[in-house]
Amino acid sequence: MHLVHTAAELRGMLDGERGVAFVPTMGNLHTGHLELVRLAAGAGRPVVSSIFVNPLQFGAGEDFGRYPRTLEADCRQLKAAGCDIVFAPDVAEMYPEPQTVRVVPPLADELCGAFRPGHFEGVATVVLKLFNMVRPRYAVFGKKDYQQLFILRTLTRQLNLPIDILAGETVRAADGLALSSRNGYLSAAERAEAPRLHAVLSAIVGAIAGGGRDYGALESAARDALQEHGWRVDYVSVRAQATLLPPRDGEDRLVVLAAAHLGGTRLIDNLEVASQ
Ligand code: PAF
Repeated sequence: MHLVHTAAELRGMLDGERGVAFVPTMGNLHTGHLELVRLAAGAGRPVVSSIFVNPLQFGAGEDFGRYPRTLEADCRQLKAAGCDIVFAPDVAEMYPEPQTVRVVPPLADELCGAFRPGHFEGVATVVLKLFNMVRPRYAVFGKKDYQQLFILRTLTRQLNLPIDILAGETVRAADGLALSSRNGYLSAAERAEAPRLHAVLSAIVGAIAGGGRDYGALESAARDALQEHGWRVDYVSVRAQATLLPPRDGEDRLVVLAAAHLGGTRLIDNLEVASQ
């Protein structure tokens, strides 16, 4: 496996490669990321993974400064998972001058976007830059970041990028907590409490499967259950999978999404609801 730090080195290695499968990451990898690498390896070759903590997608007061940087351990794991090239640029390599920011559709201001202004513009910008550097045929993103996946699919389609976007399933701990690099911020007591986020989403999915259609009441019960246990809730929301907007009457391919803070850690999760 090769480790490169500049776009020029990367292009030197990839010139002429047409089947590249790409997994962008911010590092501090866990099993969820490695599953994405395995999915990429099944789709194309060579497999390229980027590791870049992107300042553009962090707001003031967020965790850009303390986001764990664990390049050596990440490289060992990526090699074992079948990655061929790791691209780990620094900020000056990615942003040598003031950066044009891609403005993404109104959906960027919904859900997480409403609580993290500019976040999805930052994500879309860095991913588009990385796509132009790597020129992949396939790119893999996790369903845990459901809104990010939706926005990046939209961007790829609207800009006619010749890239197939593949989605990896969320990987969970045995108690249901979705794996996330940010779980490492949780104290022991918070870690014990954290699976409640998945539990309240599962309860909503169960209620919808049982015929429940008062989504507002289900969302509000979930918010209350979290708040009673010390969470600060950004949102719990039932949305249509096709649009990520509130479902219209009779719409049956749904997804339930939530974001909430436990102490100083913001966690997100979602569950798709099977068609009724
Ligand atoms: O999902 C992430 O880790 C990041 O948002 C991404 C896609 C690597 C862009 O920085």
